[in-house]
Amino acid sequence: MNFEFQNPTRLIFGAGVISQLGKTAGTFGTHALLVTGGGSVKRSGVFARAVKSLADAGISVHECEGVEPNPKIKSVRRGAQIARDEKCDVVIALGGGSAMDAAKVIAAAAMFDGDPWEMIFHGQKKVHIPTQALPIITVPTLAATGSEMNCGAVISNEDTCEKSFMQTPCLYPKVALVDPELTVSVPKNQTAYGVCDIITHVTEAYFNGVDGTPIQDRFAEGVILNAMEWGLKAIADGADIEARSQVQYASILALNGWVNSGTNGGYPVHMIEHTVSGFEDITHAAGLAIINPSWMRFAAKHRPQKFVQFSERIFGLEGKSTDDLDCALQGIDKFEAFLKDIGCPTRFSELNIDGTRISKYASETIRIIHDENGKLPARPPMSEEDIVSVLKAAL
Ligand code: NZQ
Ligand code: ZN
Repeated sequence: MNFEFQNPTRLIFGAGVISQLGKTAGTFGTHALLVTGGGSVKRSGVFARAVKSLADAGISVHECEGVEPNPKIKSVRRGAQIARDEKCDVVIALGGGSAMDAAKVIAAAAMFDGDPWEMIFHGQKKVHIPTQALPIITVPTLAATGSEMNCGAVISNEDTCEKSFMQTPCLYPKVALVDPELTVSVPKNQTAYGVCDIITHVTEAYFNGVDGTPIQDRFAEGVILNAMEWGLKAIADGADIEARSQVQYASILALNGWVNSGTNGGYPVHMIEHTVSGFEDITHAAGLAIINPSWMRFAAKHRPQKFVQFSERIFGLEGKSTDDLDCALQGIDKFEAFLKDIGCPTRFSELNIDGTRISKYASETIRIIHDENGKLPARPPMSEEDIVSVLKAAL
């Protein structure tokens, strides 16, 4: 098990830490670009608190508002232009994963002369991988993506129906200011989607990674169990700060690289979901909740052992043997039932998506990312037909 791990983001975590925003941003300059979504931060009063903290520290604020869920490349272009015009020296994301991802790419785009879409990995011949970006500060208002403390970003191009990612060290936020109080206004459905996203980040590495990773397995199971336990509480009572804090922490851990270090697996469920989202503009984790159980049933046939372990350790089932497929499938049924119980869709029909474009989703997914044999990296690697069968089973 050879691997390297580095995550340079400074994490400041806890209820009330948003008051430190001005002081924190002041370390990087005096002109901040504040990237926000469709207005939730204004309705909740969080925007006013952030601006006050920045103003108190003598920082002028320029805003790039209106970043859409499944953030679009046109918002990135707009934000980068504002950052350049206003000579911003720090980019602050205040919002969910969409605002954070847009902010990260804006920070790199502000220092790149080409079109930012060239930086997004979407199957093009030449990808521009930036090595520099303006300093980024993330202030998440929703626990879900883990974008606050990783170097990835997912951007959509509505002209081409593509949704894909960039991932490179210069996108690591300098600071993640994570204040669970900012998430109390998140509605029940988005809270539930967040829980699903957190769990799916962990299951991807758990099921697709290499063998012999017992510590990572226990980390992953801990994140899953806590996301389930505290997620239920946060959904039941959105004002429960302890529950919000636990879910927020799970969100960070699920995708800051530590839990899955050395597992070296693919992210097939995410890759397929991103393509579906590119065409249908659905909520990311609603797509995951539909695709993940179906993918699990496909993958369990090839590797029942890991799914038996999941069923036993997460749901307390007892396999008759280490490769007891019935036990594996029962655990997957229970997982799907949990997602349903918290309010996630588990079939495409619930989102009014029929099977018309399934082959397109499959071919596009493989076009964007494939191994040397033309398959989607996963365990087992997936052909176009495999993707179609997983999606058909989720209709
Ligand atoms: O846009 P506003 O008005 O802010 O409302 C948002 C949006 O409608 C709302 N919301 C956010 N915080 C709120 C709130 N409503 C009330 N109170 C608050 N405190 O929630 C809705 C969804 O927001 P969004 O940012 O789109 O959600 P999420 O955090 O789930 O981010 C999803 C995006 O992140 C990408 C997804 O693909 C998707 O584009 N991902 C990014 C990853 C990364 N960078 O590492 C990994 C993930 O797997 C994922 O792919
Ligand atoms: Zn995700």
